[in-house]
Amino acid sequence: MMNEIITNTNITIEPVEQSRIHEVDFNNLVFGRKFSDHMFEMEFQGDKWGAPVIKPYAPFKMTPATNVLHYGQAVFEGMKAYYVDENTIHIFRPKAHYERFNNSCRRMCIPETEYEIFIEALETLIKLDHQWIPKRSGTALYIRPFIFASDDLLAARSSDTFTYQIITSPVGAYYSEGFNPVSLTTTDEYVRAVKGGTGEAKAAGNYAGSFLPAKKAKAEGYTQVLWLDAKEHKYIEEVGTMNIHFLIGDTLVTPALTGSILPGVTRRSVIALAKEWGLNVEERRITIDEVFEAHEKGELKEVFGSGTAAVVSPVGLIHHKGKNIELDREKPGEFAQKCFDKITDIQYGRAEDKFGWVHKVSI
Ligand code: COI
Repeated sequence: MMNEIITNTNITIEPVEQSRIHEVDFNNLVFGRKFSDHMFEMEFQGDKWGAPVIKPYAPFKMTPATNVLHYGQAVFEGMKAYYVDENTIHIFRPKAHYERFNNSCRRMCIPETEYEIFIEALETLIKLDHQWIPKRSGTALYIRPFIFASDDLLAARSSDTFTYQIITSPVGAYYSEGFNPVSLTTTDEYVRAVKGGTGEAKAAGNYAGSFLPAKKAKAEGYTQVLWLDAKEHKYIEEVGTMNIHFLIGDTLVTPALTGSILPGVTRRSVIALAKEWGLNVEERRITIDEVFEAHEKGELKEVFGSGTAAVVSPVGLIHHKGKNIELDREKPGEFAQKCFDKITDIQYGRAEDKFGWVHKVSI
């Protein structure tokens, strides 16, 4: 090991002896498969967070009785850093992600963390592993902060100890469709979340519960499930890996955050841009029937999802109870394209960042 380095917030750095970067095919990036050389770690014990450390990415030990393995007490975030030029990297909206991370922590009975450490951990990881940030348009360094319960105890109660880690991964497009339209289906068999549950937190278990319905949707030829509300089974919620938007006439309709939908950071960015461009913007409850009716009347112009991993993802087909809405299945709609272009232009530093969304890191 090289000598340890201490940063402003006292993050101890233990650099790798040898980089693994030669293992990565930057021309063929699979989402979340390869991980950069370093990771951040901090332990919560005795009612306080301990010393932060950045060390080589590596497997770690846990006992079979570790709380998270049994009760799933864990939260995570997903954010991205973008290559701008050889001296500059942009992290997209880290404060918004950090705030949501803490909201998720509160819901899942996990101790909150400090922004100073979060942002310094991100900056330090990016500086150390800047060569892992892919350069091509459409690629980025995906950043995954997460916290899990680490008590070695089978009692079903909140853990007293937690582990906080941040890992990073060079990524390309999330869906195999890339920026081509994806297909969605509703399900009347399963629900994702209900108000009062954990759906608006980025809780690990929310995703585990969606894997079976997602697998069934995939087997039927759809990319993902379009979730309806758990109570009446008629209001559109989200897709699980992204939020959803409908362009009806000249109005952008986005399902309102009613307590069971994840408040997406890209969702907020799309809404802010639509307002800036003078579109009518409505955040409200919208039923699947209204979407089908709008389509029948020829008013449904576009449907698209938004998310960190998915960015802006056009929807070409929606299946619901034996009926289909078919939109352009070959290429994104004009508005989705405009949102994608503007958001990615800001992320890669090609457009002015009027909203103050990017956090610049000089390398
Ligand atoms: C993200 O968009 O960052 C997500 O967390 C969605 C998914 C990869 C689970």
